[in-house]
Amino acid sequence: MTTRDTDWDGVRLHVVTGKGGTGKTTVAAGLALALAHGGRKVLLMETEGRQGIARLFDRPPLPYKERKIAIGPGEADDGRDHGGDVYALAVDPEGALLDYLQMFYNMRSAGIALTRLGLVDFATTIAPGLSDVLVTGKATEAARRRRPGPPGGGYQYDAVVMDAPPTGRIGRFLNVTAEVSGLAKVGPVRTHADTVANVIKSPQTAVHFVSTLEEMPVQETLDGIAELRAIPGMQVGSIVINMARPAVLSPEELKAAPDVPAMAAALADAGLRDTGELAAALADELAEHARHVELQDRERAELEAAGQPVYELPMITEGVDLSGLHRLAAELRDQGAA
Ligand SMILES: Nc1ncnc2c1ncn2[C@@H]1O[C@H](COP(=O)(O)OP(=O)(O)OP(=O)(O)O)[C@@H](O)[C@H]1O
Ligand SMILES: [Mg+2]
Repeated sequence: MTTRDTDWDGVRLHVVTGKGGTGKTTVAAGLALALAHGGRKVLLMETEGRQGIARLFDRPPLPYKERKIAIGPGEADDGRDHGGDVYALAVDPEGALLDYLQMFYNMRSAGIALTRLGLVDFATTIAPGLSDVLVTGKATEAARRRRPGPPGGGYQYDAVVMDAPPTGRIGRFLNVTAEVSGLAKVGPVRTHADTVANVIKSPQTAVHFVSTLEEMPVQETLDGIAELRAIPGMQVGSIVINMARPAVLSPEELKAAPDVPAMAAALADAGLRDTGELAAALADELAEHARHVELQDRERAELEAAGQPVYELPMITEGVDLSGLHRLAAELRDQGAA
């Protein structure tokens, strides 16, 4: 297994949040692939029950069961392929509750009976804090699970990546002890919540924010970071700028006012007609592009001012398929994320 310094050595649970639609699922999948190098095993967890991960990897819907979904990039150091494995799991509160009953009371069948009676739905509806604990509990359990075999063996997963709820819900979702404290002051639920919180609020967990270079996602990212920083023990991770569009001109070219007559003359030289109108339209496009680049730069500066590591992923114009995901994974690795 090859090792090298990355920004997140020591982190076992990566939580990926961000404003809706900014690319949480895509970036979580890219990060899982990036972490799955050198023979490492990574679990990619979906928590919102939307089967976005299955769609992204072009697979049928994921069952509530960990299964291998992709192979990470190989390392060519010794000429042999050392790609790791990405496993995936779609967690829902119901499956997580059954797991919990099994783990702590050996009572899965009782749980299934409760489910049939609709009581699990009832419990998760009246106590959303409880359902969050069950879901985050599944992530922390997976992150700490040991390989079967003699005690003292390594971890089953080298990292767990969670495609988490959006920024608007992330604080409540992760602050599990506070959420269940009104529900359970003592007893097994409370003990479980405390165990989960100990992992979430430890250096083993980092919360990454995905943002595009637009005003609303940037604002939500900054608000989300401030919210998590106020929770003792919570570790804010990186900011991942997603779907950035590269500037096609240099800063000097962007600043210069377009020379419309010169452009028209050049177009005429190229054999075009009506070049006056064409040149004016092109000048408008140029001005628009310059405005866009300036806006992106401003948003980027705001994100950088938060003081967290920042990675930048390009807009993949062909759409994100498996090869696109590998491209994003390679970017994340080159920039030090994994
Ligand atoms: N780097 C990228 N380049 C091109 N398209 C992208 C990129 N990242 C994400 N997308 C596309 O943007 C859309 C939203 O991405 P994604 O589903 O990952 O966002 P999300 O934050 O998980 O959304 P939701 O809030 O609905 O869960 C998808 O169509 C996805 O393919
Ligand atoms: Mg998503």
